[in-house]
Amino acid sequence: MLNDEMKETLLQSARAVQQWVYAPYSNYPVGAAVLSKSGRIYDGVNIENASYSLTICAERTAVFKAVSQGEREFEAIAVVTRDGGSPCGACRQVLAEFGLDTKVFIAKESGQVVWETTVEELLPGAFLPSNLQGSN
Ligand code: THU
Repeated sequence: MLNDEMKETLLQSARAVQQWVYAPYSNYPVGAAVLSKSGRIYDGVNIENASYSLTICAERTAVFKAVSQGEREFEAIAVVTRDGGSPCGACRQVLAEFGLDTKVFIAKESGQVVWETTVEELLPGAFLPSNLQGSN
């Protein structure tokens, strides 16, 4: 499923969606694209707000778009920024909810992948749905 061609397509999707970023306060555009196990790509951008803390990151926009279309299993996510910044803690936790094996491609706008990792590596010791088993 995740061959080189698909990886490139995912990175391109994350780059292409950056045109829709709404980041007037930070001026730090982020594009993300998640590939579901069903083979579909969902992209997302960071969307800021004058009430700063209401900002949502690109990774969560992409994952929430996918989940709201019925997806719960992901092959990979690509994240593109100007400097190759990595997903924030909140996004790592949201990604962990849907699988620790999800691959994470962190890239610069130039296309250069600066880090190829997994959710598990990004968030060791994650608090998971399994922690809540048996609690209701
Ligand atoms: N941002 C993301 O979209 N993803 C991250 O993982 C890190 C931060 C956004 C949020 C905000 O709009 C801007 O980058 C600066 O923090």
